[in-house]
Amino acid sequence: MKIKVLYNDATRFEFIRRAVAEKSSGADISGSLQADNTLPALINGSAPDVLIVDDATRANLNPIESLSLVSPGIDILLVSADTSAEFLMNAMRAGVREVIPSSASQDILQAALARIMHKRGKHPSGNDGKVFAFLSCKGGSGATFLAANFAYVLAHEFGRRVALIDLNLQFGDAAMFVSESHPPSNLAELSQQIHRLDASLLAASMLQVAANFHILAAPDNPEQAVEVRREHLDAIVRLARQNYDFVIVDLPRSLNGISVQVLDMADTIFPVMQLTLPFVRDGKRLLTVFRSLDYPRSKIRVIVNRHEKGGEFTVQDLEKAIDTKVAYVVPNSYHAAAASVNLGVPIARANRGDPISKYLIEMGREFVPAEAQAVSDGWLSRMFSRKG
Ligand SMILES: Nc1ncnc2c1ncn2[C@@H]1O[C@H](COP(=O)(O)OP(=O)(O)OP(=O)(O)O)[C@@H](O)[C@H]1O
Ligand SMILES: [Mg+2]
Repeated sequence: MKIKVLYNDATRFEFIRRAVAEKSSGADISGSLQADNTLPALINGSAPDVLIVDDATRANLNPIESLSLVSPGIDILLVSADTSAEFLMNAMRAGVREVIPSSASQDILQAALARIMHKRGKHPSGNDGKVFAFLSCKGGSGATFLAANFAYVLAHEFGRRVALIDLNLQFGDAAMFVSESHPPSNLAELSQQIHRLDASLLAASMLQVAANFHILAAPDNPEQAVEVRREHLDAIVRLARQNYDFVIVDLPRSLNGISVQVLDMADTIFPVMQLTLPFVRDGKRLLTVFRSLDYPRSKIRVIVNRHEKGGEFTVQDLEKAIDTKVAYVVPNSYHAAAASVNLGVPIARANRGDPISKYLIEMGREFVPAEAQAVSDGWLSRMFSRKG
């Protein structure tokens, strides 16, 4: 659960931060001075679930109304000295969920937040799944292959609940990388029914690859794709985050309003590159775009895919060229990858000993808490140590 606080006075931010932290230990809370942060910039960078505006006045209501139109999934709470009936009415019309007086104690603030959490169907501790966005810097980098196979590894090797969302609205193929079955519905059909979106509709729209691994497939054809809008993604990704430990989105190469919406919401972005000049050129461009969107460096984790030792261009050369550290280097393993893709079977199932499978499992350890790993390791080692 991400909570953003806009404040005018740092001691007030501290007061709110403490009130939130006391009741919602899993919440990720950050603050910005109101003057430094216009609302559109705020959504670009952090896409909170709850926005608290301290010291709110009438002047805040217009930007808040615009914000709630584009991001209906954000719950907005105002703390204001103005508690006139007129202000309350205008605030509600602008899409604000709660208004509490500036003189309110921490208890009152906590109670207002608890009501918001309750409405979101969330436990007040506010633990949400992670959103990971995969995108290729250039066609054929392997973004879809890695997104789908990493999703499988997190679900199967680590027992996490994982949703894979295919955002390639034109020719999405992510489901085919890990399953032969036909999806029951897709992102466009779900978007058409957005007014009745809830956890059970989301689950019913997804291909159930395993009990804990579900895929929301891309639209069947480009005409259907026109129906999908950024507000739909806002609602779908938020809901998915509440119901899964990991929401992995396979993004198209061309950035548009919809993909930027998902990139904003992502906890981590994984741009996928290879070590040849054309990839590097496009990779550089993509990282420049991320900078212009004000994404912190820590949000971007570059993957080099299909790595071969002894190539002309090294990982260090790439890091220099893109002025960014490479986080992961996935080995090349042509035959195993091709076999997995041709059969529609995840590589870690078809060939668990393959270098790509081993690498993805290692990568998974970074994102799964050690206690959960101990459980799955224990379970796996018992299974493999069985004789006969
Ligand atoms: N580490 C790897 N080793 C060998 N082959 C790989 C590896 N990763 C991916 N591939 C192969 O590359 C092919 C293309 O991958 P994929 O379709 O995932 O690329 P993409 O970046 O999603 O491309 P697009 O931009 O067209 O969506 C896959 O069919 C797979 O066989
Ligand atoms: Mg792809």
